[in-house]
Amino acid sequence: MHAVPSDIAPERRREAARRMVERLTLESEARFRTVFGALHEGVLMVDADGEILLVNPATERLLGVRAEQMIGHSAFDDRWSLLDEQGLALAPEEQPLRRAIRTGEAERNRIVGLRRTDAPILWLEVNSSPLLREGEAVPYAAIATFEDITRRRELEERLRQGEKMEAIGQLAGGVAHDFNNLLTVICGNTAFVLEQMGANDPRRESLEEVVAAGERAAAMTRSLLSISRRQRGVVSVIDARDVVRALLPLLQRMVGPEWRLRFTAGEAPAIVSVEVARLEQVLMNLAINARDAMGDGGAVDLTVEVARLEARRETRFGAIEAGDYVVLTVSDAGSGMHDDVLSRVFEPFFTTKGAGRGTGLGLATVLGIVKQCGGAIEVESVLGSGTRFVVYLPRLAEGIIEGTRA
Ligand SMILES: Nc1ncnc2c1ncn2[C@@H]1O[C@H](COP(=O)(O)OP(=O)(O)OP(=O)(O)O)[C@@H](O)[C@H]1O
Ligand SMILES: [Mg+2]
Repeated sequence: MHAVPSDIAPERRREAARRMVERLTLESEARFRTVFGALHEGVLMVDADGEILLVNPATERLLGVRAEQMIGHSAFDDRWSLLDEQGLALAPEEQPLRRAIRTGEAERNRIVGLRRTDAPILWLEVNSSPLLREGEAVPYAAIATFEDITRRRELEERLRQGEKMEAIGQLAGGVAHDFNNLLTVICGNTAFVLEQMGANDPRRESLEEVVAAGERAAAMTRSLLSISRRQRGVVSVIDARDVVRALLPLLQRMVGPEWRLRFTAGEAPAIVSVEVARLEQVLMNLAINARDAMGDGGAVDLTVEVARLEARRETRFGAIEAGDYVVLTVSDAGSGMHDDVLSRVFEPFFTTKGAGRGTGLGLATVLGIVKQCGGAIEVESVLGSGTRFVVYLPRLAEGIIEGTRA
């Protein structure tokens, strides 16, 4: 194709050869640029000292940094703060490109997080390779290709969290079941002995304490059982606004006079199919948490409204399917939560309240109940300004209550 004709003078031949090499170089450069630019994966090449020699457009896009801010700069400086798969800081010598230069070995499918100043951590899956000249043992450069796996990691994390909750729930439910049987024996027999004791027997007080402790334990066991959904009660079809309204005086007494409960009910009937006692348990747990978040008193807002969700929505704590919902919110202007706390609030036994103050079962119970009703829950929290729990329960058509009565 590009053969040099042999029937011309040597100088002209040399000139022709030079031009051809030039053209070939340009062609291969253009081809290289096309391929390089079209790659979906990021490509980044550094020399042995870490100076960035080459980046492709995907790298600019993925990292959100322009090529001129990278080329000629060091890839080994603190601007590139990397994390390992667990989210711990990665030692500089363990960073993929450095490692490739240092060891002369390629590495595949390494997961690292890139910490950025104004954006969440970017998770990348990285392949890195040293570049070696023939006959030399020390790399003169290294190249990494990478792709963004942030979204994939999020989904995996959510799945893992869900499985963990399920496992803890099952375990707790199993223990609670046996516990309940033991408690029945303890409380039953204690009550039996008490009955036979004289009213002034000095041992009475001790036994009464046993009964009181047994009852507290039984209440905890019931929470555990409802987390693992092993117990079912009577389901009613009822307007959630009525449930809240009826519970309000008791709820106000529970939270105490320094905190004011304010209830706003929407116009539309908010018909749900629930066990009333369970729905009350949800409200109590949320209201008490709201109170605890406002140490010096304040207002807790409860609302019941209806809403239609046109499309399935992903939330931090699971998806909410499209459909008609009764939406119940409990908001406070309290401490709010740190992200680390927020991500664990529904975990059974997770509490930030001191020993003897919180069991950490409140929200795990709430979630168990809401899920059991086919609902979902969302939390919005701002550290220092407050928290809002939003409970979605499937809404039934209005005529249903009459239908049940008929
Ligand atoms: N409204 C809120 N504002 C701030 N933090 C909250 C709020 N609700 C829950 N939390 C946090 O979530 C944690 C878990 O709540 P959860 O109700 O499950 O347990 P608890 O309140 O600690 O104990 P328990 O409810 O068993 O007495 C709390 O310890 C608290 O740190
Ligand atoms: Mg609680």
